[in-house]
Amino acid sequence: MRAVRIHRRGGSEGLVVEDAPRPGPATGDVVVRVHAAGLVPDELDWPGTWVDRAGRDRTPSIPAHDVAGVVAEVAYGTTGPAVGDRVFGLADWHRDGAAAEYVAVEARNLARLPDPLEFTAAAALPIAGLTAWQGLFVHGGLESGQTVVVHGGGGGTGGLAVQLARDAGAHVIATGRAHAAGVAAEMGAHAFIDLERQRFEDAVEPVDLVFDTIGGDLLARSAGAVKPGGALVSITAPPPVEPAGGRAVFFIVEPDRDQLAELAKLAASGRLRAHVGAVYPLAETREAFEAKRKGVSGKVVIEV
Ligand SMILES: NC(=O)c1ccc[n+]([C@@H]2O[C@H](COP(=O)([O-])OP(=O)(O)OC[C@H]3O[C@@H](n4cnc5c(N)ncnc54)[C@H](OP(=O)(O)O)[C@@H]3O)[C@@H](O)[C@H]2O)c1
Repeated sequence: MRAVRIHRRGGSEGLVVEDAPRPGPATGDVVVRVHAAGLVPDELDWPGTWVDRAGRDRTPSIPAHDVAGVVAEVAYGTTGPAVGDRVFGLADWHRDGAAAEYVAVEARNLARLPDPLEFTAAAALPIAGLTAWQGLFVHGGLESGQTVVVHGGGGGTGGLAVQLARDAGAHVIATGRAHAAGVAAEMGAHAFIDLERQRFEDAVEPVDLVFDTIGGDLLARSAGAVKPGGALVSITAPPPVEPAGGRAVFFIVEPDRDQLAELAKLAASGRLRAHVGAVYPLAETREAFEAKRKGVSGKVVIEV
C-alpha cells in the first residue's frame, strides 16, 4: 500500500511517501481502508510515535491517528464494525497511524459513521472531540448552568469544547488571539477574551471550570480563576498550581466507542461541527504537518 512513514526520530522533514506492507488485523482489530486521516501537529514529539508500549523502537512509523474510512477486514471475535461499514475513530498512539491506504485499529476504538457525515469532517472529530468531551464532562464535571473558560477556543480542540459546553447548557467564555474571536463566536462562545490585550483573570469572576488547550504561563495563572469546588483541566501539561479548594487535572485522551457515537450523533444532527482548517492529499502529508506554522487554524486533515 502507499503510506507516509518516518524512519528516524526528528521532525516533519523526515516524512516520506513510499510503499509499505498492508497491515493485517491482530487480535481485536479491524483493518480500515482509510479515506481521511487527522493529525496533531506536535505528534512527532510524542514517545508513542517512536516506540511501542514496551518501549521498543517501532520505526518506521506512520503518523496521523484520527481515522475515517470503510472496514476492509475484521479479526476473529471482534464485535461492532463489520466489513463495508463506514467508521471513524482513534488509532493507538503506539501503533501505526492512518496516513496510509490501510490502518489496523482495535475495533473498540471505532464507531459507526452516520451517512450524512463526510469522511473529511469525520477525520477531524475523534482526537479533538474525545479530548473536549473528556476534558469538560469526565474530568471537569461540567453541568448545565455552570461557567467554563476554554483557553484556545478557536482551535481544533477548543472549538469543539466551546460547542459541546454550549450545547450542554453552560455559559462559555473562550480565549485566544484576536483572530480567533470570529471562530469562537461561530462555535457558540458567549464571550471572548483576547489574551494579547488582556489578562483573562482580570476579565472574569471565578468560574466552575477552566479547560486549557494552550498551556505555559496561562496554565499556571489559571488556578486562580477557579471557584472553590471547581476544576482546572489541562491537556498540555500537569497544572503547576492547584486551584484553592478545587481540583487540577491533566489527562491524555482515551479512545471510547460510546463517546465517539455521541459525537457522531451530534455532528450528524448539525449540533457539532469540527473546524477543518486545511485538507491535503496523502502525498503532501509533510506540508500538512507544517500547516499550523503557516497560520492554518483548526484541524488539519489528509485525504487518502
Ligand atoms: N492531552 C491530550 O490528550 C491532548 C489531545 C489533543 C491535543 N493535545 C494538545 O493540546 C494542544 C492543542 O491542540 P489542538 O489540536 O487543539 O491545537 P490547535 O488547533 O492549534 O489549537 C490551539 C489554539 O490555541 C491558540 N493558542 C496557542 N497558543 C496561544 C497563545 N500563546 N495565545 C493565544 N492563543 C494561543 C491557537 O491559536 P493560534 O492559531 O493563533 O496559534 C489555537 O486557536 C496541543 O499542544 C496538543 O498537543 C493534547
